[in-house]
Amino acid sequence: MSLPNKAAWVPQATANLTVGPAPYPFPVPKHSILVKNESLAINPVEAAIQKYAIFLMEYPAILGSSFAGTVKAIGSSVKSFKVGDRVVVSKAFSNPSPLYGVYQQYALALPPYVSKLQDSTSLDDAAAIVSNLATTVGALTIAMGLDRPPLSGSASTNGKKLLVYGGSSSIGGLAVQYATQAGYTVITTSSLRNMSTVEQYGAAKVINHTQKTENILAAIEAEGPYDGIFDTIALPSVVGILSKYLEAHGGGVIYAVQPPPDDLPAGVERKFFTYPGLLEDEANDEIRKWLFEEYLPKSLAEKRIIPTKVEKVSGGLCAIQGVLDKYNSTGVSGVKLVVDPFEED
Ligand SMILES: NC(=O)c1ccc[n+]([C@@H]2O[C@H](COP(=O)([O-])OP(=O)(O)OC[C@H]3O[C@@H](n4cnc5c(N)ncnc54)[C@H](OP(=O)(O)O)[C@@H]3O)[C@@H](O)[C@H]2O)c1
Repeated sequence: MSLPNKAAWVPQATANLTVGPAPYPFPVPKHSILVKNESLAINPVEAAIQKYAIFLMEYPAILGSSFAGTVKAIGSSVKSFKVGDRVVVSKAFSNPSPLYGVYQQYALALPPYVSKLQDSTSLDDAAAIVSNLATTVGALTIAMGLDRPPLSGSASTNGKKLLVYGGSSSIGGLAVQYATQAGYTVITTSSLRNMSTVEQYGAAKVINHTQKTENILAAIEAEGPYDGIFDTIALPSVVGILSKYLEAHGGGVIYAVQPPPDDLPAGVERKFFTYPGLLEDEANDEIRKWLFEEYLPKSLAEKRIIPTKVEKVSGGLCAIQGVLDKYNSTGVSGVKLVVDPFEED
């Protein structure tokens, strides 16, 4: 069996994407599945990987980490999926082969990082959150050691308070919902534009992060102290605010989505991980299984998670370079940009 396949390739380090033919990955390796990619979500880090080659990789490369679609074929040892299943995939970091790259019409995937979706779940919604939910679980549960939410309902309040800076980002919004469901009192931030959406995530307080720095700091101070801080923005201005807050309290730790700068005040520590990568550690197998087999598909089916708002970009694979350029320039506000790789430009 072979079908025509098309990909948006990065031909060499820092080069713009080129759309062209790609191998149809069949026969399927025995531990993999082949997925018809019907919705792919583009994440900010992919823009930096394309333009600045921030990760070492072999070229030509096919980027991407989040997609959803229908299983077309399965490897001989795969028991957990069958042809026709609707699935969402968070591409494993440890797998650089372009056959598993996301910016293409047909891609391979590794079952441990795939969730089976119910018919009622939107493929766009699932693609929009899959990698950032893996980031959230990696950060809050594995790195920070916080409680997980139950599989239905919410845990009763545990009396602990968490500051999630950036509730209107995709990761921030998911982190607020996850921690709230797990019983934490969550304080977060948003611009006024996204305030009403973020208020639905369950935070006890949403601080306007477009105020003057001293007002943001005062609002954070008024809601504290915190049992944990997760910085989902990690821009220098935010690092400054959080560092000042902790410095005034004798120091502390910020878990952040970007590496720390060199000049943090004494006593302030910023911890950075590639959070979804933590799920690839064998020691975290049970958490990975819980996420992909239970929490993610169940929460989407039961609408327990409000997914990051999807903005569908027209133009198919040819539109991806424009999306990457947007992430590298203005960024987005309160949305995840999604493309249908079968749409013609
Ligand atoms: N370490 C890891 O494992 C890992 C994994 C995935 C992603 N990341 C990184 O995590 C970051 C967030 O990713 P994402 O997909 O969640 O991004 P995103 O949704 O595209 O982030 C955009 C949002 O950031 C908010 N924002 C921008 N400037 C802000 C500021 N100064 N203060 C507060 N909020 C601000 C905006 O909110 P308003 O419009 O409301 O202002 C906007 O909605 C990226 O840097 C990404 O590369 C790291």
